[in-house]
Amino acid sequence: MEVLHHLPGMNDERLISGGGHVEDAAVYALEGDTLLLFTVDFFTPIVDDPASFGRIAAANAISDIYAMGGIPRLALNITSFPTRTNRLDEMIDILNGGAEKAMEAGCLIVGGHTIDDCEPKYGLSVIGFCKRDVLMTKSGLNPGDKLYLTKPLGTGIATTGLKRDLISASDIADIILSMETLNIKARDAAVDAGVKACTDISGFGLLGHLYEMLSESKCSAKIKMQNVPVFNICTKLASNGIYPGGTWGNYEFMEGKTRWHPSILQEEKMLLCDAQTSGGLLIGVSEIKRATLESKAEENGIKMERIGEIIDGDKEPRIEVCK
Ligand code: CO
Ligand code: CO
Repeated sequence: MEVLHHLPGMNDERLISGGGHVEDAAVYALEGDTLLLFTVDFFTPIVDDPASFGRIAAANAISDIYAMGGIPRLALNITSFPTRTNRLDEMIDILNGGAEKAMEAGCLIVGGHTIDDCEPKYGLSVIGFCKRDVLMTKSGLNPGDKLYLTKPLGTGIATTGLKRDLISASDIADIILSMETLNIKARDAAVDAGVKACTDISGFGLLGHLYEMLSESKCSAKIKMQNVPVFNICTKLASNGIYPGGTWGNYEFMEGKTRWHPSILQEEKMLLCDAQTSGGLLIGVSEIKRATLESKAEENGIKMERIGEIIDGDKEPRIEVCK
């Protein structure tokens, strides 16, 4: 974040969002009421299976387009790989995994760039489009809105357990499948219900991304812990002190901004702050549109948990977490 303040601002009357990283994607107005959305994300492998890593990285990169209500259309591969080794099969599997997800999303991978690097990394830069009236942003929350989360939390904790050989990929098959799952159905339900406030959960965790929305919207929030979906195995891992450094950093950042009910356990706090890869959408919806959102989600066959609500803000946003 800090780095961006040291860079020149990019201003253009067509640029609706960009320059900073406030929204999930840059938004640029084309002719008429069409908006172009533009984003990029890439990272090092978090699972051993290269094709699965490719699918996760692609689903994760594409998610920023869905979080703003867009449809992904074009993408470029960004790859670093030890190309002067005999591991090229692995790289092909990663790229094919990414291509599989992009195709599922109806998004064309039209090129890319690879550099030689000892540590593999993979991701996509994605372009999507939406009409102006379906754009969802972090600033669209209002007091009284209900908050919905569309994927359980714990992917950072689970992949840390995997990295430390405490669990195997088969122990977290459901979590890997969740990371590979596109947020398209959640996006469709939100857009159909006329939702205006949305983001996706990634590196800052649920509370960090919620805090961004609250700052943009000048509101505060109440979260009901028992309604927050989490992967069970992650509660156990977190209670044994297993979580990534990023999750601890999120927790430290949120500590002064969160009012924890005394009954909230440390592992629950870590789950709410857990750095996610390819997490779900966090949706804020008014009481009037709530029923439509719930029925659209059911029609689309996706689970959406109502995890809390938006309340009036003070000068600084605060998050209250109750049991
Ligand atoms: Co995002
Ligand atoms: Co991003």
